[in-house]
Amino acid sequence: MSLKDNSAGRRVRIFDTTLRDGEQAPGFSMPTEAKLAMAQALAALKVDVMEAGFAAASPGDAEAIRRVAEEVEGPTICSLSRTRDEDIRASEDALAPAARRRLHIFLGTSPTHRQAKLKLTTDEVLKEIERSVSSAQGRFDEVEFSAEDAIRTERAFLKEAMQCAADAGADVLNVPDTVGYTSPEEIYDLFKELTATVRRREGVIFSAHCHNDLGMAVANSLAAVRAGADQVECTINGIGERAGNCALEEVVMALKTRADYFDADSNIETTGLYAASRLLSELTGQATPRNKAIVGRNAFAHEAGIHQHGVLEDRRTYEIMTPTDIGLPSNELVLGKHSGKHALKARAASLGFDLGANHVEQVFAAFKRLADEKREVTDSDLCALITGEHDAGADWEFVRVEMRSSSEARMRPFARLTLNHRRRGRISDIGTGDGPFQAVFNALCSATGVAATLDDLSVTQSAGRSHAEVRVLYNEQVFAGGGSDADIIVAASEALLAAFNHIERARKRASALLVGAA
Ligand code: KIV
Ligand code: ZN
Repeated sequence: MSLKDNSAGRRVRIFDTTLRDGEQAPGFSMPTEAKLAMAQALAALKVDVMEAGFAAASPGDAEAIRRVAEEVEGPTICSLSRTRDEDIRASEDALAPAARRRLHIFLGTSPTHRQAKLKLTTDEVLKEIERSVSSAQGRFDEVEFSAEDAIRTERAFLKEAMQCAADAGADVLNVPDTVGYTSPEEIYDLFKELTATVRRREGVIFSAHCHNDLGMAVANSLAAVRAGADQVECTINGIGERAGNCALEEVVMALKTRADYFDADSNIETTGLYAASRLLSELTGQATPRNKAIVGRNAFAHEAGIHQHGVLEDRRTYEIMTPTDIGLPSNELVLGKHSGKHALKARAASLGFDLGANHVEQVFAAFKRLADEKREVTDSDLCALITGEHDAGADWEFVRVEMRSSSEARMRPFARLTLNHRRRGRISDIGTGDGPFQAVFNALCSATGVAATLDDLSVTQSAGRSHAEVRVLYNEQVFAGGGSDADIIVAASEALLAAFNHIERARKRASALLVGAA
């Protein structure tokens, strides 16, 4: 099958790498169940290709790819691979259950990558491309080759590498700006030359993969599209290595909004963009900036009087897209005490929550109580109602904490604590550690069943009181807490417990979303 489709304007393929390039960035790692929930949201968006991971990177990555391949219908499922045979085999195994499978082979081509990382000559790089791409033929539905650090590769050698991959049978020739170094004019010129000079079979396409180190990933991807790229690689919310990748929602909405200029569009179901963005934030615990293009809270908000007046007269005065284009509830739909279940369900769905029949009754009752107290129920009120955060108080409370520590080397600091959990009741546990705070922390991990790490704890003293600040790491996310008391141990324990309460809330939010997405 040809990958190229030039029927009505050009249709640009959307290759999503949220679950690979996005997930490998610090703070964004996701357990398999979260990856599956995200993969279903990407399928609902109708991405053309979903890179589900890097099979040879770890057994966990391979397992996640296999689950996505088994359970997610629609997009082509892809696995990243080095040129090594064992990587190709690991991808082959993990992708086996998918209806359509793509192998994505990459190899560094720039002088820095060749000399510093690979220790290969240009001839050896070409041989490696030829060998790996040829050996993948017939084992996958599609093979993509990426010349890692293409932008910093000598142009003549990049052309040779691409020609070599095309001759060996690659279906997609990807040009990564691995370090986010290029500019729109430069990448436009490069794609013009590559698309004009690399000889290839009918249907073989060029692809852009841009990182955002200089804040130009979306602009560079769009410039590549103008110069002939038929595929863009991107991630939800622009997550990815360092400053991230090209943001899917931005490139897609730019193509849709300026189809007149780009003469190209994607197949993305844009009304799912807001929900996909929110789901990712909830699953990773990383909020999107308020002013983020397309999906940030301010993207469709009008505060200034002149703007509000203009928008009320005709929204086109200050809006180039409508909120409903991305699946945001329309500005007119305000949830208040007169709203019914239908409006509540629709707003919950646009926030990424699928309320089942029982849950909707429960949330609706809580919503009515809140709407009586507040004139307007906001999105964050609704999220809190759905995840149960609106009920008063924290989940965990201290009943008692005791500490023993001694100058004797033989006696390790020891903590005993009793907690009360809102639903689980009283729990007592003990912990030891290198210091008294670590002992309390270990006792907390054991009592709450949360395997966290203590990243930082600082205590200051003023006016006879101790003030503690802590940072706790859980699932590669940071949870902070603060506490204050006349007793230094109690202050630190309160700060630690506050962080554990934040973790509990994040876990509840994620599991509510997973249930909704299942
Ligand atoms: O940025 C990059 O070069 C990559 C490749 C593996 C495609 O992510
Ligand atoms: Zn990348």
